[in-house]
Amino acid sequence: MTFIITTPLYYVNDKPHLGSVYTTIICDSIARYKRLIGEKVIFITGVDEHGLKIQRTALEKGLSPQDHCDEISSIFKDNWNKWDISYDKFIRTSSKVHEKIVNEFFKRVQDSNDIYMGEQKGWYCVGCEEFKDNPDNNSSLQCPIHKKNLEWKNERNLFFRLSKYQKEIEKLLDDQEFIEPKERRNEIIQFVKRGLKDFSISRTNLEWGISVPNIERHTFYVWFDALLGYISALSDEEDSFSLEHSSKFGWPADVHLIGKDILRFHSIYWPAMLMSAGIKLPKKIIGHGFLTREGQKMGKSLGNVLDPEQLLTKYGTESVRWFLLKDISLGSDGDFQDRRFVDIINNDLANTIGNLLNRSTSMSRKWFENKTPSFFDDNENTILKITEKTIANYLKYFEEYNLDSAANEILNYSIKINLYLNKKEPWSLIKKENNIQEVKIIIYNVLEASRIIALLLKPLLPELSIKIIHQLGLNDKSNKSWKEELSWGGLPKNNYLPISKPVITKLEYE
Ligand code: MSP
Repeated sequence: MTFIITTPLYYVNDKPHLGSVYTTIICDSIARYKRLIGEKVIFITGVDEHGLKIQRTALEKGLSPQDHCDEISSIFKDNWNKWDISYDKFIRTSSKVHEKIVNEFFKRVQDSNDIYMGEQKGWYCVGCEEFKDNPDNNSSLQCPIHKKNLEWKNERNLFFRLSKYQKEIEKLLDDQEFIEPKERRNEIIQFVKRGLKDFSISRTNLEWGISVPNIERHTFYVWFDALLGYISALSDEEDSFSLEHSSKFGWPADVHLIGKDILRFHSIYWPAMLMSAGIKLPKKIIGHGFLTREGQKMGKSLGNVLDPEQLLTKYGTESVRWFLLKDISLGSDGDFQDRRFVDIINNDLANTIGNLLNRSTSMSRKWFENKTPSFFDDNENTILKITEKTIANYLKYFEEYNLDSAANEILNYSIKINLYLNKKEPWSLIKKENNIQEVKIIIYNVLEASRIIALLLKPLLPELSIKIIHQLGLNDKSNKSWKEELSWGGLPKNNYLPISKPVITKLEYE
C-alpha cells in the first residue's frame, strides 16, 4: 500500500511565503511519520505555473512566463531543501508530461459529454483565479481575500457540467471522513445545497496556459490544469505514463492538505472532474487555517509579512517547525507573535526537553565514568507506564493528523520526567554509598525517557531528534523499526556518553 500526501501546487507569482511553508511542513511531518511506521510514501509538492496571474507577473518583470517560472520554481525547490522537506515528487505544471495528462483527461471528460461551449460573464479575481459569486453584495467589488479589484469578464468559454454531479457530490460529502475539520465540512455542505453551477474550464486571450486541443485560441483554465498535477506528479517524467497507469503508481491520493480558501476546488470541483473522467477520488481533504501576524492578516500593503527565509536564518528549521506544528491546531487559524514564539521555543525545547537531556547526561557522565549506568533490572518502574501511555496517545494523535496534540504529548511527557527527576533528587541520594543502585535506576530512567522523546520527535523535528540520539551515545541508524525502537529499555547500559552540550540554543527576544 502506498500512502500519497500532497501540498497544494503553489503559484509561482512569488517565492514561498510563510503560509506555503506551513502547509509543506505539516505534510513533511505526516510523510515522515508514515515512513517511520513502515508505509511506502509518496509526498508530492510542486508549482502551479499557468494562468493570468503568472503571465502578468512575468510581464511586469520583463521576463517570458517560462523564464519567470523557471526562476521561481527553482527558488521553491531550493527553499524546500533548506527547510529539510522530504518530498518525493516535485511537479511543474509547465512540464510536458503534465500537458499530456491534462489533454488525456480533457478527452475523457469530453467523452462523458461533460464539456460544452457557453458564455462566461462575471467578476473575476486574478489573485484567486476564480469567478466570485454575487459580488454585488460586496459594495467595493473587491476580492475579500486579496483586497484587489475584481475584473469583469465576458467570454465564450468551454464549460464543465458540474451540475450533473450534484447528487454524487452530496453523497460524497455524507462521508464524515472526506473533509476535515468538521466546521469546514459543514461550510462545503451548505454551499453544495445551494445548487452546483457548471464552471468554465477554458480561457480565450490567455496565452500562458495549455492549449485546448482542436479549439483555437482557448487555453485551459488554470485550476482545470493544476489539479491534475497531483496525478502527473506520479509519472517520473516517463513518456509512457498515462491516466491509465495512475493507479499502478499509487493513485488515489490519501490526503490533499490545503488551506481553507481552496477547499471548494478540492472537495467539489476536483472530485466531480475525476468522476467524469472515471478516475478514483482522493480519500481525504484537510483544510488548514490561516496564519496571521500579531493578530493581523499578513499582507504586503500592511508591511507585516514574515519572510520565511529570514525566520529560517534567524531561528533555524527546528524552532519554526515546533512553533507551527505544536502551537497551531490543524484546521484552526494561528497567530505568529514574536514574543510567544521565543517563549515557546525557550520553554519547550531549551528548558524542558534540552535541559532534561543535559542534566541527565551530565550526571551520568560524572557519576558513572562517562557512561550510562549499569545495574540489575528493577521490576517496579513507574516511568514505564507513563511512557507506554504517552506512546499510545501519540500514535493515536498522529493517525488522526492531530499533530499539535502529538507534539504536546511529547512536551507533557518531558515535563513529567523532569518532575520525576526533581522529586527523586539523585544529587542528594548519591551522597550515600548504599543509594547507588537507586541512583543508577533513576538516571537510567531519565536517559531512556530522553531516548523515547528523541524518537517521538523524529517526524516533527528530525534534526533535533538526531542531535539527542547522538548525545545519548547512540547511532541514529538502526536495524530495528522505529516502533521496535520505541519499546522501553533500548538504551544500552554501561555505554559511553559524549561530552554534554546543549542541543538547542535559547533564543533572545529582540
Ligand atoms: N495554485 C493554487 C493551488 C492549486 S492546487 C492544485 C493556490 N496556490 S497559492 O500559492 O495561492 O496558495 C497555496 C496555499 O497557501 C493555499 O493552500 C493557501 O490556503 C495557503 N495560504 C495562503 N496564505 C496563507 C496564510 N496566510 N496562512 C496559511 N496558509 C495560507 O492556491
